[in-house]
Amino acid sequence: MIDKNIISVIGSGTMGNGIAHVFALSEKVGNVYLVDLDIDILEKAKSLIERNLQRQVQKNIISDLIAKNALNKIICTTDIEKISTSDLIIEAVKEDINVKKTVFNQLDELAKDDAILATNTSSISIDKIANSINKNENVIGMHFMNPVPVMKLVEIIKGSKTSDRIVRRTLDYVNLINKIPIECNDSPGFVSNRILMPMINEAAFTLMEGVAEAEAIDGIMKLGMGHPMGPLKLADLIGIDVCVSIMKVLFEGFDNSKYKVCPLLEEMQKSNKLGVKTKEGFYKY
Ligand code: CAA
Repeated sequence: MIDKNIISVIGSGTMGNGIAHVFALSEKVGNVYLVDLDIDILEKAKSLIERNLQRQVQKNIISDLIAKNALNKIICTTDIEKISTSDLIIEAVKEDINVKKTVFNQLDELAKDDAILATNTSSISIDKIANSINKNENVIGMHFMNPVPVMKLVEIIKGSKTSDRIVRRTLDYVNLINKIPIECNDSPGFVSNRILMPMINEAAFTLMEGVAEAEAIDGIMKLGMGHPMGPLKLADLIGIDVCVSIMKVLFEGFDNSKYKVCPLLEEMQKSNKLGVKTKEGFYKY
């Protein structure tokens, strides 16, 4: 059974810091290395993790002691060689195949032979990432949902070369952090974003064409369909840039015009209205 595992997370953005947070809370996890290029970014990520842990303390989900222990387990570093003792390494850098390939080439060289090399990509092909390295049977998709400390699902994506042993061990790790793994195969957008993103894209078209205001579109989907938040608010939470890049993966992957990205989303990306992270998207924050 898994005991005092060492975990590494590469990339300390919204998803990376959430992933480090949930692993640090597990008693079976020793240290969590959070790796990024810049120490200032890492410090901001760590203080965000502290704030999110405190949210859970306020709600009596965890004790203050557990929160402090978890925070102490997270070691921020700009030195990627620190991943060399890790059992599980999760890449959560930006959604750009070339950036991801560069990271996986480093993991190929530095990681233990049996380390799980997971990617938190939201749509890029697992095979495309895995095929660029030698340890390709160790590569798997581990797609967390935002906000990571709250959402129960981890979508597990098997590449064509992913070994059964790596799949089994990955499922164990998801259970260890009290989340629910659901498996699928490698296909553009996997299951989650193949279904979610066209809805968000259509909501943007509906706004652009003046069918309704943002609040009305979101209100209709919330109250009428029982969604916890409307598609435009959700796009702001996910990040407009991430939505655009996922739509492009669907468009190119299926070569089908029904996935064409809404011009309003592209315009928002150009003017840096990326949602919650830039304090303005469809709404102001
Ligand atoms: N860390 C810790 N706790 C957090 C948190 C965080 N980052 N964010 C929210 N919470 C907690 C709050 O403290 C609160 O706790 P209680 O329920 O105990 O009160 C709870 O989560 C709900 O938060 P809020 O009260 O602030 O707001 P809410 O009730 O409107 O819920 C939400 C917020 C959980 C985000 C909810 O609206 C929701 O489920 N939205 C849908 C989110 C979703 O669809 N995510 C998937 C996006 S797709 C994706 O991520 C994949 C991709 O590739 C794009």
